[in-house]
Amino acid sequence: METVKLNNGVKMPILGYGVYQVTPKECERCVWDAISVGYRSIDTAQAYQNEEEVGNAIRKSGVPREELFITTKVWISNAGQENAKASIEESLRKLQTSYIDLLLIHQPFNDYYGTYRAMEEAYKAGKVRAIGVSNFYPDRFIDLAENCEIKPAVNQMETHVFNQQVKLQEVMKPYGTQLMAWGPFAEGRNDFFTNETLRMIGRKYGKSVAQTALRFLIQCGVVVIPKSTHKERMIENFQIFDFSLSQEDMDEIAKLDKAESLFFSHYDPETVKSLMTYKID
Ligand SMILES: NC(=O)c1ccc[n+]([C@@H]2O[C@H](COP(=O)([O-])OP(=O)(O)OC[C@H]3O[C@@H](n4cnc5c(N)ncnc54)[C@H](OP(=O)(O)O)[C@@H]3O)[C@@H](O)[C@H]2O)c1
Repeated sequence: METVKLNNGVKMPILGYGVYQVTPKECERCVWDAISVGYRSIDTAQAYQNEEEVGNAIRKSGVPREELFITTKVWISNAGQENAKASIEESLRKLQTSYIDLLLIHQPFNDYYGTYRAMEEAYKAGKVRAIGVSNFYPDRFIDLAENCEIKPAVNQMETHVFNQQVKLQEVMKPYGTQLMAWGPFAEGRNDFFTNETLRMIGRKYGKSVAQTALRFLIQCGVVVIPKSTHKERMIENFQIFDFSLSQEDMDEIAKLDKAESLFFSHYDPETVKSLMTYKID
């Protein structure tokens, strides 16, 4: 598995498996399938309410803990130094592990400075190998990165061929922060899986739209964590290391970028309100 080196020297697989919207009922089987396919990086979150099932699957897989890379995220309702500290302990308990590889602030709302301090403490205590953020657009990212002690290792953002986050990557460069793509298929929006450009380019290499889209991102140095509950698609999404897109094809796919979200705006008051009121057990 290809890896990227984070700004603290920790190596992270460039391809992982995401479990957003994977129900607790299905999650253990899905993570088990993903590990059997070869995935070694799993992306979960307190808000997905399936950390326990991820923990069950990794424990039962028999794969040595040090060969796995586990990411989770602190939710808004657990913000603030004390709450976040307790929630990190809870995540460790549910994941059934003594350390988390990558811990992120899920959303840039509520007392995220307090959250970040709790994460810095956990990092120094060896409970977390790397810390970072998610959904931090350039303004909030720079604010936090300038005013924290341990620079964010990762920013996990909506990133796909239609929203390539070129500007954000430039903003993050001075801090050495790695872009990690959520929604690498835009969850199928904008007729993703039938896109003509991706289809025609993929055909040249004997690859599907999904494989071509993931290959484009990893060739740009972006970490990807596609989600699927189907084992055959997990396999398909894993087979992206046996070809490489030509510069001409990379340039063609780069033209699909609209530099806009296909989901929602973090600057829309209604979106912020609805995220703030999303409660977890
Ligand atoms: N930090 C954040 O705020 C945030 C937000 C969203 C997501 N994430 C993370 O990013 C991960 C990935 O994003 P996502 O789950 O939102 O969306 P995604 O990976 O872009 O898309 C998942 C969708 O694509 C389908 N799919 C997967 N592989 C396919 C293939 N080869 N061919 C056709 N369809 C395919 C899946 O269907 P089936 O499952 O039915 O196969 C599912 O409907 C999440 O699981 C989560 O870990 C983070």
